[in-house]
Amino acid sequence: MINRRQFLQISGAGAAGLLAGGLPSLVNIESARAASNPEGKFIPDLDIALKATPAEVPILPGNPTGVWQYQGHVIKGNRASLIQLERTYLGPIIRTHTGQKVRIRFTNDIADKTIVHWHGLHVPADMDGHPRLVIPSSETYVYEFEVRNRAGTYWYHPHPHGMTGPQVYGGLAGLFLVSDDEEKAAGLPAGEYDIPLVIQDRAFDNRNQLIYLSGHRMEQMTGFLGDWILVNGHPDFILPVATRAYRLRLLNGSNSRIYKLAWQDGSPLTVIGTDGGLLETPAQRGYVMLGPAERIELWVDFGRYPVGSETALVSLPFEGGMLGGGRMGRGMMGSGAALPNGAGFPIFKVRVNRQEEASLELPKRLSTIKRYRAKDAVNAGHPKRFNLVMSHMSWTINGRMFRMEQVDNDEKVHMNSLEIWEFINEGGGMGMMGGMNMPHPMHLHGKQFQVLERQGVLHDGYVDEGWKDTVLLMPGERIRILVRFGDYPGLFLYHCHNLEHEDMGMMRNYLIEGSAASV
Ligand code: C2O
Ligand code: CU
Ligand code: CU
Repeated sequence: MINRRQFLQISGAGAAGLLAGGLPSLVNIESARAASNPEGKFIPDLDIALKATPAEVPILPGNPTGVWQYQGHVIKGNRASLIQLERTYLGPIIRTHTGQKVRIRFTNDIADKTIVHWHGLHVPADMDGHPRLVIPSSETYVYEFEVRNRAGTYWYHPHPHGMTGPQVYGGLAGLFLVSDDEEKAAGLPAGEYDIPLVIQDRAFDNRNQLIYLSGHRMEQMTGFLGDWILVNGHPDFILPVATRAYRLRLLNGSNSRIYKLAWQDGSPLTVIGTDGGLLETPAQRGYVMLGPAERIELWVDFGRYPVGSETALVSLPFEGGMLGGGRMGRGMMGSGAALPNGAGFPIFKVRVNRQEEASLELPKRLSTIKRYRAKDAVNAGHPKRFNLVMSHMSWTINGRMFRMEQVDNDEKVHMNSLEIWEFINEGGGMGMMGGMNMPHPMHLHGKQFQVLERQGVLHDGYVDEGWKDTVLLMPGERIRILVRFGDYPGLFLYHCHNLEHEDMGMMRNYLIEGSAASV
């Protein structure tokens, strides 16, 4: 077994970032845009093959680790659209531009059923990776969609019902980056100064193989927690930087761990983006709470550090991360994890290793966000309410669990309509576990939404002013969001993105009704 000390120590010989070189810039992206197409046939600007396959990768010193991995290649289009990462289980970074038409031929090369979901992207229902669309081993699912999202840091991962947790944990995840002209005009650090950082926790046995849940129900109630923190698939990650400004794109790709992000030296975080892309203006936070599946983009100028110095991004300790509260008493249950949710630890180290004179100024304005207004919502007077409660030893939404095709009346919405949805994480529910309370990162498929208000807040580390597709509700909080349901009808999901909660059924369908012709 790995001991805590070993974990908490940051080795001086740690792995240099596989992405230390940053992202190569996309060339020829304009020329790759949609050609005119009189028949309306789908002609992709970018055609890629992607497979989920077993692989072995080095993670810890010694034996390689058996994982599942997304691997891909470009069939047609700009080769720079796929960035292969080396020495990691993470899938290739897919880079696109708003308006591009993308075809992805996904082949399942693992033994279990699977399907790929494009987290945060606005795509038609049959392109969204709903669990009813799973394919068995050795079959192929062809995705075709136009990238409609604004520039931002999106991602992809499996979505088979009941098995999303183990499949993501086993290595299946990758970033899906979108750029657009507005982002380009903002003048942000690019190329090698634009660094994606995927944060995940894992546990290993003494042969370096991944350990998932022991099968204990209480462990699933809390969610999986590993005692190794990996960045881009590496333990003890070190980011070498120059004395200049960087754009850091952080994804919490963990199954259930929440990070309370802060700079080790106490400098505030300068936030420039959230799940759905750039904020209007930069925001300062002493720390940021980042729940599973959420993204945050930071601006950081390492020009304030001398060459040779080091700093680190850390996760600060916090309360309320574990199963507890109510009648059972806070912290009494689910606290057996080696590194509990809410423990403090370093995430990665930054080493300032070279002088660079030229830098960039933090832009005053980053993008334009048209605010939705609560009074324009079709249900302004009676928001849809979703109580996050335990029922019959399972996490549920309003006491209901996922059924593959089931949609209740209050889960039906109309195309293009604007609604207020309220999520309530105040405990309650039925049975002996009724008073239990835990954080729940709530996610809607297919839409970026806006946060209208939050109540019962004990943390000031939320960045609610940008576009979001996942919102973290700590125990005692309730949140109202404004969501416009857009122009793709059909069945989509909303769920808790604690993947163990999702797998146990804390997920429901919502149905967008209406036909394209009627709008
Ligand atoms: Cu990352 Cu159903 O989503
Ligand atoms: Cu999603
Ligand atoms: Cu949950």
